[in-house]
Amino acid sequence: MNTFLTTYPEIAAEYIKQGGIVAFPTETVYGLGANVFDETAVAKLFEAKRRPPDNPLIAHIAQIEQIKELTSAVNPAGQAFVRSFFPGPLSLVLPKSPRVPLIATAGLSTIGIRMPESKLAHEFLSACGVPVVAPSANLSGRPSPTTWRAVLEDLEGRIDCILQGDETEIGLESTVVDCSDDVPVLLRQGAISLEELRSVVPETKSFECTDVEAPRSPGQKHVHYKPKAEVVIVGLLNAGGGFKPDSAYIGVGEKGVAEGFLYSKVCGSVEEYAHSLYEFLRECDRKGIRTIYCQEVAEDGIGAAVMDRLRRAAA
Ligand code: TXA
Ligand code: MG
Repeated sequence: MNTFLTTYPEIAAEYIKQGGIVAFPTETVYGLGANVFDETAVAKLFEAKRRPPDNPLIAHIAQIEQIKELTSAVNPAGQAFVRSFFPGPLSLVLPKSPRVPLIATAGLSTIGIRMPESKLAHEFLSACGVPVVAPSANLSGRPSPTTWRAVLEDLEGRIDCILQGDETEIGLESTVVDCSDDVPVLLRQGAISLEELRSVVPETKSFECTDVEAPRSPGQKHVHYKPKAEVVIVGLLNAGGGFKPDSAYIGVGEKGVAEGFLYSKVCGSVEEYAHSLYEFLRECDRKGIRTIYCQEVAEDGIGAAVMDRLRRAAA
């Protein structure tokens, strides 16, 4: 198929209404969308990104009222999170409504729901008129796309349309919290930190996945976020430090530290590190770099999400 490029959200939404699959920007990463109630479109989406069928999808909404179309019940913790963080980079796992086809939830009785904040995502989702399931718009196992060009690189000819927006602001995927039980459980780190979640619901737990066969969040067991190059996590660089030739470096700090690398990026803050990481990994692959040194950061705020993605990329 030909992949149509457009900057108009209403045109991109037409493809969704006709059963197509469309990549669109959000404030976290680009997503690959399909009408949640259209089983054929959802099947096409799994096929296009070669996603394992046991990995469930997040449904994206434009209005708070659309939550009712997707879930049978929102408990008090879920309601508190909706009030505090919707729209924004948070996905809530809630009991699914019978209307939601099992293919979208990979057979689970729960569904992930998120209301993006970015203006273009909101305009697109409003024009679609239905909730839109959207995993990140990359081929399975590749770093999530933060630019429309990265989407094109992975999915050209495999999807109907790309809604072209700016580079995404946050650069890492949303925080995922399971609210299907009384006590909320953090399943995936993101821009909204555990500390922020606990400031709203103090009992919120962090899920440590020990059983690979029965992970609470199915996405956690699959290979994720991997560039072709080897990723090595390092502490602060010390001058002349025995690094492999043809290597790259990304970290936070003083500009001088990254001399001698073939390609490098020194960020001014952890937020900038999060924002730049996936595109940096992709650019390293384009340049044929074999080893990428990534600086370790403190695990507070979005630093926890950066370290989570680095460990997966390095695994
Ligand atoms: O920021 C984001 O969340 C982006 C943008 C496009 O919104 N989307 C995204 O989707 O990252 P994806 O499919 O790449 O990641 C969804 C994660 C996976 O780890 C999946 O296992 C988990 O959410 N998930 C989805 N539904 C779930 C459910 N019902 N129960 C537990 N985990 C769920
Ligand atoms: Mg993904």
